[in-house]
Amino acid sequence: MELLHTVAEVRERVRQWRQAGKRVGFVPTMGNLHDGHLSLVREARRHSDEVVVSIFVNPTQFGPNEDFDAYPRTLDADCAQLRDAGVAMAFAPAVEEIYPLGANQTWVDVDALGDYLCGADRPGHFRGVTTVVSKLFNIVQPDVAVFGEKDFQQLAVIRRMVAEMLMPVRVIGAATERESDGLARSSRNGFLTTEERATAPLLQQHLQQARRAIEAGERDYRALERRLTASLAEHGFDVDYITVANADSLVPAGPGDRSLVVAAAARLGRPRLIDNVTVKLAETAL
Ligand code: PAJ
Repeated sequence: MELLHTVAEVRERVRQWRQAGKRVGFVPTMGNLHDGHLSLVREARRHSDEVVVSIFVNPTQFGPNEDFDAYPRTLDADCAQLRDAGVAMAFAPAVEEIYPLGANQTWVDVDALGDYLCGADRPGHFRGVTTVVSKLFNIVQPDVAVFGEKDFQQLAVIRRMVAEMLMPVRVIGAATERESDGLARSSRNGFLTTEERATAPLLQQHLQQARRAIEAGERDYRALERRLTASLAEHGFDVDYITVANADSLVPAGPGDRSLVVAAAARLGRPRLIDNVTVKLAETAL
């Protein structure tokens, strides 16, 4: 596996692959890789001949009081994992390589979808994500790109951007990888204390509880959200939101919606954890 740092080097390698008729798969990450990221790599390998993984902690998607400086940077360990996973190229650019003119003036911004759920608590976050993913797509020019369903809203926003901007890339969603106790794998789990780590799976358990309640006929979603928020708070979570939303528009769901996502974000000690479950209701269930 080669580790490249500049846009020019990546473009040259990708040009050679294309000349040889190869299909390029791409997995953008911020590094500190775990099994969740590696499952995305496996998915990318199934759809392409050569896989590129970017490792870039993107400053424009972090708010002023967020963990940009503290975000774990573990490039050597990441590269070792990617080598074992059969990745052809890791791309780890400096900030100046991706933001060559300093403060960015050109933004790719998906309006409504980015405003709900995490968008409400993290203004500008999704604009940072869509802008950097656009830049990375322009550099790597992949045939397919893989994103995790763990970041449900991010995946929805990127699908919308690609469709509306007519970007020639196929976006694939990959299922959430979990620890044996159900906690979604995340680079931020390392910030949990031992005690918080024992509590953390309750987030997923509450989402499953929501799914069962909805499948059993609960349609007062706002009341359900309030019950779950109160219960999580009792266990020490500081809940940003737990919302039953329309899985396509991400707008808070009403009783007529059939394709739902129950999405949650909650702080537990230092890290903010996110997770979701999807629920599909048969027409007869409404
Ligand atoms: P990062 O948090 O490093 O995640 C990179 C990719 O891994 C994302 O598509 C994310 O959804 C996926 N992922 C994370 N945890 C996962 C898990 N437990 N199971 C499956 N997939 C998982 O998301 C970002 O970086 C950034 O916003 C990025 C898209 C790279 C833009 O900067």
